[in-house]
Amino acid sequence: MMSRSLENMTALVTGASSGIGRATASLLARSKARVALVGRRQAALEELATECGSLASAYPCDMTDDTQLKGLATRLQADFARIDILVHSAGIIKLGRTETSPVADLDAQYAANVRGPYILTQLLLPLLRAVSGQIVFVNSLITRVNNTGGRGSYAATQQAVHSIANALRDEVNEAGVRVTTIFPGTTATQRQVNLHEISGKRYDPDRMLQPEDVAEAVLFALTIGRTAEITDLYLRPMLKPLV
Ligand SMILES: NC(=O)c1ccc[n+]([C@@H]2O[C@H](COP(=O)([O-])OP(=O)(O)OC[C@H]3O[C@@H](n4cnc5c(N)ncnc54)[C@H](OP(=O)(O)O)[C@@H]3O)[C@@H](O)[C@H]2O)c1
Repeated sequence: MMSRSLENMTALVTGASSGIGRATASLLARSKARVALVGRRQAALEELATECGSLASAYPCDMTDDTQLKGLATRLQADFARIDILVHSAGIIKLGRTETSPVADLDAQYAANVRGPYILTQLLLPLLRAVSGQIVFVNSLITRVNNTGGRGSYAATQQAVHSIANALRDEVNEAGVRVTTIFPGTTATQRQVNLHEISGKRYDPDRMLQPEDVAEAVLFALTIGRTAEITDLYLRPMLKPLV
């Protein structure tokens, strides 16, 4: 039977300072999990921790810095007896045509969207294995579409992390660890505010997914009965953007 309570579980959510990660961390805390909030901006994490009450605490970390990632894993091991849930929602996007984009933009996205989540997963796997835990990757609906002009390097990182999630599932299912990828379409977060500003398009959040919608999908994947695994879950806004 499905229970939505995450009581006695510990969850780590990356990207918890904004958007989808923030909404997810908040929902997990409301579902009674202890939540470790990860992101670079300590003040934003502390603000959410205060909002969530005693169940959440801030763990500032730059996911592109190997030393900081190792330090984070050490702190988590010391602070919590267990890690049941790892939600990856940290990430960046850089727009630009292949002909003209600086390769540094490709490298920066790879570091934040692929390499960081890969290393953090490696570091926490022993803890997750110990409790037959669960890993959720917040990916993107961009992996399903072809009109990716100007977003090739970002789309490449999302395809890469999907491949990693699929291989990981194959490796850890036998230990009872579930791996889920969630693919949201356009979601009303700071990222979209910024992208709309760059493109000059009208920002119409009511026609987008809400970060809380994606958080609900994460909780669904986390709480479905243990005889099942949500592998890939696609979410798109009901309404098309007005042009
Ligand atoms: N919004 C959409 O339309 C949409 C659609 C599909 C998929 N997604 C995916 O959803 C995820 C979250 O997106 P969002 O829209 O919620 O974005 P957002 O509002 O821009 O939030 C991004 C989060 O990632 C964190 N982050 C970025 N670089 C980091 C780093 N080096 N180390 C640690 N944390 C880092 C940021 O925290 P700090 O700045 O504090 O470090 C922030 O909390 C992304 O992976 C994105 O690909 C979003």
